[in-house]
Amino acid sequence: MAEKAKIAVLISGRGSNMAALVYAAKSSDCPYEIVLVASNDPDAPGLSLAQAEGLTTFAHPHKGLSREAHDAIMHDALVQSGADYVVLAGYMRILSDGFVRKWADHMLNIHPSLLPKYKGLDTYQRAIDAGDRVAGCSVHLVTAELDDGPVLAQTEVAILPDDDADRLASRILIAEHQLYPATLAKYVTREADPDWILAQVRKRALALEETHERPSFGAPGWRVGSDTTGKYFAYFAQSHHGEASIALLVKTTGLDEQAALIDADPDLYYAPKFYGKSGWIAIRLDRGDTDWEHIAEHLYRSWCQVAPKRLSKMLEIADQF
Ligand code: GAR
Repeated sequence: MAEKAKIAVLISGRGSNMAALVYAAKSSDCPYEIVLVASNDPDAPGLSLAQAEGLTTFAHPHKGLSREAHDAIMHDALVQSGADYVVLAGYMRILSDGFVRKWADHMLNIHPSLLPKYKGLDTYQRAIDAGDRVAGCSVHLVTAELDDGPVLAQTEVAILPDDDADRLASRILIAEHQLYPATLAKYVTREADPDWILAQVRKRALALEETHERPSFGAPGWRVGSDTTGKYFAYFAQSHHGEASIALLVKTTGLDEQAALIDADPDLYYAPKFYGKSGWIAIRLDRGDTDWEHIAEHLYRSWCQVAPKRLSKMLEIADQF
């Protein structure tokens, strides 16, 4: 199994979600391990549970400190712990923009509502008062705006006719304890998930001018130009002609460049079956260390090879400025 992702959990109170993560991490096939439980409240009940489980804890009260100063102290503790990801579990602090930026795409939060509904506090009563049929919980990436980052997963929880906020909260909490460990496991292993990899390629291919997606022999492919005269500049290869790897196929300037690339990095590049003969190159996407800017560059260069003159001319002109 690949090395486990290192997780720091931030709590402010009870820490039941932290406990759910800690117990999930005890399973040998869990893809993450908890390296730190930290709090802005030295008396947070969750800290004693974490200590009893033999985990490293850290606490620093925020009282008398600016938001930035407190966040900087927490950040240092996180870095010291070797954490790859920060997981907020009832951490009732608004975070400074700088802190959020440092952990961009590496910080998750759980919130007791079906986001984008009911950001902030008092989510249960607001759902009941609105006459909603279902409430629930969401795990999302943390961005500068409160409870606003991309939602990774949600669980719906039915609202019963005689529910009050407490009863509803206790059922949502059960759902939270299922959702958070599972979503975190999926997120930290996303770079090995073919669907995630495909979404990354798709986003970058379709960001180029006048492109569209069209499957070719069952594999996703991207073309530049019109529906009728467009030409392929990329293919997504998953078990392409029996090859085991997940790879992106793009055009090079020819067999010389193809050979030079393979020579320079034989673990990353290979000549794909069938397409290899005409100067296409395969770039492995399943090694867990993909440089996506580099992939975007390859897509662009391949696009340039086949884009209609009118489009590449426009770019040549733009390049002169
Ligand atoms: C959880 O219900 C969590 O969703 C909520 O605080 C509770 C913490 O409980 N978080 C928020 O409201 C964040 N906006 P826990 O300490 O037992 O995990």
